[in-house]
Amino acid sequence: MSEAKKLHVALFPWLAFGHIIPFFELSTPLINLVSLPLPTVEHLPRNAEATTDIPSHKTPYLKLAFDGLQGPLLQFLQTSTPDWIIYDFAPYWLPSILANLGISGVFYSMYGAWTLSFFGSSSSAMINGEDPRTGPEDFTVPPEWIPFPSKIAFRLHEAKQAFRNHFEVNDSGFSDVFRLGSVMGGCDVIAIRNCNELESNFSRLVGELHSKPVLPTGLLPPADFDGSRDQDDVWLTIKECLDKQNKGSVVYIAFGSESELSQPELHELALGLELSGLPFFWALRKRDNSVKLPDGFEERVKGRGIVWTSWVPQLRIMGHESVGGFLTHCGYASIIEALYFELPLIMLPISLDQGLIARIFGEKKVGIEVTKDEDGSFRREWVAESLRFVMVEKEGKPYRDGAKEMKKLIADKDVHDRYVDHFIEFMQNHRVA
Ligand SMILES: *[C@@H]1O[C@H](CO)[C@@H](O)[C@H](O)[C@H]1NC(C)=O
Ligand SMILES: *[C@@H]1O[C@H](CO)[C@@H](O)[C@H](O)[C@H]1NC(C)=O
Repeated sequence: MSEAKKLHVALFPWLAFGHIIPFFELSTPLINLVSLPLPTVEHLPRNAEATTDIPSHKTPYLKLAFDGLQGPLLQFLQTSTPDWIIYDFAPYWLPSILANLGISGVFYSMYGAWTLSFFGSSSSAMINGEDPRTGPEDFTVPPEWIPFPSKIAFRLHEAKQAFRNHFEVNDSGFSDVFRLGSVMGGCDVIAIRNCNELESNFSRLVGELHSKPVLPTGLLPPADFDGSRDQDDVWLTIKECLDKQNKGSVVYIAFGSESELSQPELHELALGLELSGLPFFWALRKRDNSVKLPDGFEERVKGRGIVWTSWVPQLRIMGHESVGGFLTHCGYASIIEALYFELPLIMLPISLDQGLIARIFGEKKVGIEVTKDEDGSFRREWVAESLRFVMVEKEGKPYRDGAKEMKKLIADKDVHDRYVDHFIEFMQNHRVA
């Protein structure tokens, strides 16, 4: 028997860091970057290459430009003939190209299995408009096709926002749900950043809803790094500030590179931090100067609170012993990172499926959600209460313990490596020719 032919896999992530990074992590170092030129699109700033370069209302134009990669990608696939291509939710046009070329496709979901389950089956609910749920209210209860006990549902304000942004046809020509439904309907395998130890009921349901194999890739926990060797100036400055605080006392706040707080949200959040009396480190990415902190805020919290407006080494901050909790917008990737460092969560979901993620991790008792009004707004008192509950109060201890417990699973490298190995083995055994 001849030696097994090397497996050749192409990866095609959506242009957002929360997607690109896990795709990179899955690829191991065996990677070859191929550049496909992004076409110019009206309304899209010339240098924009990822969602982080643009305000969120311009995202549909980035999707439009992304759709323009169809020709160059086809050319690449024809000449390079990979065994498999692993792709993201956006290229609704890719499955039919792959069918013609005889290349197998994996849809690699950056959404959790709970979110995919919540959206329903690709053929009826997502693409043909046959979802029995027709208005935002219908999304505030768990869908009828979930056969096990679950509280997964949007709050009304989240459902309204999701309807506006993801269900309705956008300037990119297609709704996100249509894109997602198309790639799920057309792929051979659905891969999810998940492991059965975290949850398996939703993963199994995704397989049933779509009649496809579902492969968890493990959680892809952050790679170990040697902090002692790091001499980067930014980190040294931050470390000096954190070193001055007591162990486990500092709240780390970050809303990801893509989420945007409105001015009233930013205002209440800042005043809530101030009211909590807790030390904090706030990584506040400001892509423009349209949002402002309350007058005199930084002066008043001097010595205990820091607002950092440029890039930060997030993993190093989370790993610092002074940091004891994470106030988050509930991006799935940053939650995995925080729990890897056993930080309990104070959850303030902003958009997309973050509300669903907050429900799931709330049920797992590794954090709590900041109370919100029916319209989605929140008050400084509620922010301060949640922060103190999770960080210092006696009643919050189960959540601090819950995060410690979850760390054991997320940091178990063997568990997660096994999923990746199994995933690769599957691709080896199921390639065409
Ligand atoms: C399209 O979606 C974006 C979010 O991705 C939203 O901000 C925008 O208002 C939507 N545009 C239209 C025309 O619906
Ligand atoms: C998974 O589903 C089964 C029933 O199908 C249920 O008994 C079990 O409690 C569920 N597990 C979780 C963690 O919800």
